[in-house]
Amino acid sequence: MGQIAKRNHLLINVNGETIKVSGEEAFLPLAQFLRNTLHKPGTKVVCAEGDCGACTVVTATLRQDGWPPLRAINSCIAPVYLFDLSCIVTVEGMKHAESLSEVQNKMREFHGGQCGFCTPGMVCSMAQLAEDCKESKQEVTEKKARNYLTGNLCRCTGYEPILKAATNLDLNKWESLAARYLTSALTAHFQSELHAGIEITSENKKLYMPTTLPEAFQIKAASKQVRLVAGATDLGVLINKAKTSLQEILVLNKISGVHAVNGSAHGILIGAMASLTDVENFVKSAHPELKRLLHIFASPQIKNQGTLLGNILNGSPIGDSIPALMVLDAEIQLQSVRGARTVKLNDYYKGYKVFDKAEDEIATGIFVPALKGNYLHRYFKVSLRKDLDISAVTCAIVLKLEGTNISEARVAMGGVGPTVTRMPSVEAHLVGKTFNEMTFTTAGSLASGSIKPISDLRASAEYRHLVTENLFKKCFHEMQAELSSPMEVLCP
Ligand SMILES: Cc1cc2nc3c(=O)[nH]c(=O)nc-3n(C[C@H](O)[C@H](O)[C@H](O)COP(=O)(O)OP(=O)(O)OC[C@H]3O[C@@H](n4cnc5c(N)ncnc54)[C@H](O)[C@@H]3O)c2cc1C
Ligand code: FES
Ligand code: FES
Repeated sequence: MGQIAKRNHLLINVNGETIKVSGEEAFLPLAQFLRNTLHKPGTKVVCAEGDCGACTVVTATLRQDGWPPLRAINSCIAPVYLFDLSCIVTVEGMKHAESLSEVQNKMREFHGGQCGFCTPGMVCSMAQLAEDCKESKQEVTEKKARNYLTGNLCRCTGYEPILKAATNLDLNKWESLAARYLTSALTAHFQSELHAGIEITSENKKLYMPTTLPEAFQIKAASKQVRLVAGATDLGVLINKAKTSLQEILVLNKISGVHAVNGSAHGILIGAMASLTDVENFVKSAHPELKRLLHIFASPQIKNQGTLLGNILNGSPIGDSIPALMVLDAEIQLQSVRGARTVKLNDYYKGYKVFDKAEDEIATGIFVPALKGNYLHRYFKVSLRKDLDISAVTCAIVLKLEGTNISEARVAMGGVGPTVTRMPSVEAHLVGKTFNEMTFTTAGSLASGSIKPISDLRASAEYRHLVTENLFKKCFHEMQAELSSPMEVLCP
């Protein structure tokens, strides 16, 4: 089979119309492209950092195994190049045959908008809710509506009318966006382009989207400037707010298998481009405590776009997934033209944003080994708000009990030093002790004594010390409750 020619443009379908995008426009934030280039001003930009949801659009990108579900994302921080062979539906695409969609009708009927700035984003998130509920034949409950709208802020209407609009949706009247937009003609067109890699050059930027890992390793080895971009939920904020400029960009999106999450008796292998939502869905029954943590991670839009690997590789000391993956003894898989190796996550962070990763290495996945036996898990995220907030302190504790004795202990904490870290002295203290409140109180004091937190915008050092002590007590009470009534605690 001959080499398939690379494209120097993207193909994107917006509200049913396929558009070729090349040059500088491929590097714009999607919201800017929709508003200024395509003249679709329904998509609003307010915060430009993924927080408010005004810029929400609904999208799916064709893969070798077909279309994944359409999902809401924040278009303000997502660069256009991530949407090659994607279908994007904006608020302008919600109406059908000149009639408003069911979501828009219910927003109007229940007075879900005042100034209207948040409304297009609300409509798009609610469209995903309608789409998912119709597909899975489930009712739109208030709990579901609140979850789907977590990433949409409204500053003048108030949420009651918006929630009423959502819970009064008549799904029989909702015309599926997938049926309307993911047509067989679009699928056939995009499938014919699926195997072509992409290289786009603008005045001062270069984009590489290879179709195989060996090509990606070559590209990474050829220039120190090359930066991996996954979901861009960290990088997009830096580009918008810190004016970070990426000159050479490598995206693994078009490589087969990178989005996969696979489970076996040995553990779970999570691909480099697996979204946080895909991981959350996958671990639902296999690891309810990890599911619970991911449930309170960011917003649906961020989790639909952002990857688990991105969270780990960004290496923030308050990255929420890191303590849990550390106590699970997860291993990062790194690869380059020189070969492959695995690094235990526990050994990966060498200092603030200093990693055990060579310049030319790419992370291809993370393996989370299965824990066999009776383990208790608690993962904590302490933040001012439950939803869509950055943590002040994070903590993960895994224990194995033999009778009333702790036979194994694993503890990791974040937000209390320059990196997330395991706490060997606390683990050593716990092992061999009786599972009771006194053991945990002493462990909390020990943990508090061994951390060196700073005071910053999110919390004072003093608060972080106090929270550390209290988390161990909380952990004891929650684990004790779990022992007497497992399902109640694991599936709140
Ligand atoms: C509004 C908002 C809310 C958020 N809430 C939370 C939260 O609650 N908890 C939390 O922990 N985080 C949160 N984040 C941060 C962010 O969403 C996560 O860290 C996310 O997992 C990053 O993934 P990404 O795919 O978007 O990474 P990107 O931004 O694409 O990349 C992040 C880093 O990883 C590197 N990288 C990515 N893939 C690879 C690879 N394969 N090999 C080598 N390097 C790679 C990139 O070069 C970059 O340095 C939030 C962000 C926003 C904007
Ligand atoms: S403009 Fe606020 S999330 Fe995009
Ligand atoms: S209607 Fe004004 S912000 Fe929501």
